[in-house]
Amino acid sequence: MTEFRAPVGTRDVLPPESARWERLVALFAGLVEQAGYGLVLSPMFEDVGVFERVGEGTDVVRKEMYDFEDKGGRRVALRPEGTASVVRAYVQHRPTPPFKAWYAGPGFRYERPQAGRFRQHHQMGVEALGTDDADLDVEVVALAWSVCSRLGLSQVTLLLNSLGDDVCRPAYLETLRAFLRDAALCDEHAAGYEKNPLRVLDCKRDACRAATDAAPRLVDNLCEPCAVHFARVRAGLDSLGVAYTLASRLVRGLDYYTRTTFELAADALESAQNAVGGGGRYDKLAQSLGGPPTPGIGFGLGVERLLLAADAEGVFPVPQSSVDIWVVDTTGGTAALALTHELRAAGISADRSFDGRSMKSQFRSADRSGARLALVVGDNEAAAGTVTLRDLRGGDQETIGRADVVEHVRKLCR
Ligand code: HAM
Repeated sequence: MTEFRAPVGTRDVLPPESARWERLVALFAGLVEQAGYGLVLSPMFEDVGVFERVGEGTDVVRKEMYDFEDKGGRRVALRPEGTASVVRAYVQHRPTPPFKAWYAGPGFRYERPQAGRFRQHHQMGVEALGTDDADLDVEVVALAWSVCSRLGLSQVTLLLNSLGDDVCRPAYLETLRAFLRDAALCDEHAAGYEKNPLRVLDCKRDACRAATDAAPRLVDNLCEPCAVHFARVRAGLDSLGVAYTLASRLVRGLDYYTRTTFELAADALESAQNAVGGGGRYDKLAQSLGGPPTPGIGFGLGVERLLLAADAEGVFPVPQSSVDIWVVDTTGGTAALALTHELRAAGISADRSFDGRSMKSQFRSADRSGARLALVVGDNEAAAGTVTLRDLRGGDQETIGRADVVEHVRKLCR
């Protein structure tokens, strides 16, 4: 028989590791809901056009999209990221702005799998639509930053840039093209810089790095409104004590960005995959998806990468999770069935063994589970209408009347 395995570039997350995921998403949800963001659930696949709008010039769309024709002949794609779907939902439903949404879920990119790079990864993110107030940029960047601090990550650098807008960027791109014309670039960018000169700034190859060291910077060529906006974002972050590094090379891998862009780089991870999150403003995206002009900003944090960074820094460990009570029943299992049911109904976590195991085997399972207490029902207890309560750490035990078990245990677990 064929033994199937998870597809290349995907992972199964099993207990106890999965408890860390639950805790991470809960921590994220708590933080962003406190700031007024509400959960949005959008489909995992969309009309391919939704994603094409996020950047026909990007690898995410050109090379990595999981697109296919469904049985009805529609061209659809698994979402490579969350922003396009949320903005599509905004355009479709037109909630009252400002619309502040959060999400957590998988994204699909047909990439070459490697450490920290998956074909199915998971993002937790926020999107805020309806205002271009720089204070919102500060709020969003600070939220992303605080997720990292709450996790205990201390070796994360916040990289900040402004990509300007339709007014100042085209002129800057011309200046940059003129500069790159005489530069010795890597083969890929020597051929492709005319089309997307910004990508050259982001190229990690030595040739492009060296050639662009003295390249003109977009932050020095912003139009007045973009410069004022960026200054307000920076002043806001300064006032909140959120430290950042100005990163004029930061162009991001999606085409929709305008003005503020940022990335969180985990210094403890391999530099090629050290972005644990990123985001920015996308003031034209709603329009390009057929909606009214609506500015927006957001970020996505990579769950896998955040946890890799946490491992590398030795923080946010897998939580020790165990049930409170293990019921050991050597009378056939009916007592265990009733007791676990009653305990759970009273809000006490409880588990048991199955298959009529020996007492020794049941105690072994109890120890492995990490439960603090065992409730033991043997022939003597059954005959006497009692249960023996044993402290699995200290070894003390006592006898309790069957009718009093739940109340007694509830007091102990409180
Ligand atoms: P992104 O930078 O493409 O931005 O992805 C956000 C984060 O998702 C990355 O920093 C990384 O941690 C994680 N990530 C992306 N692709 C992979 C992968 N193949 N394997 C593992 N982790 C990955 C966005 O997707 C934007 N939607 C963020 C945003 C929201 N901008 C505005 N709003």
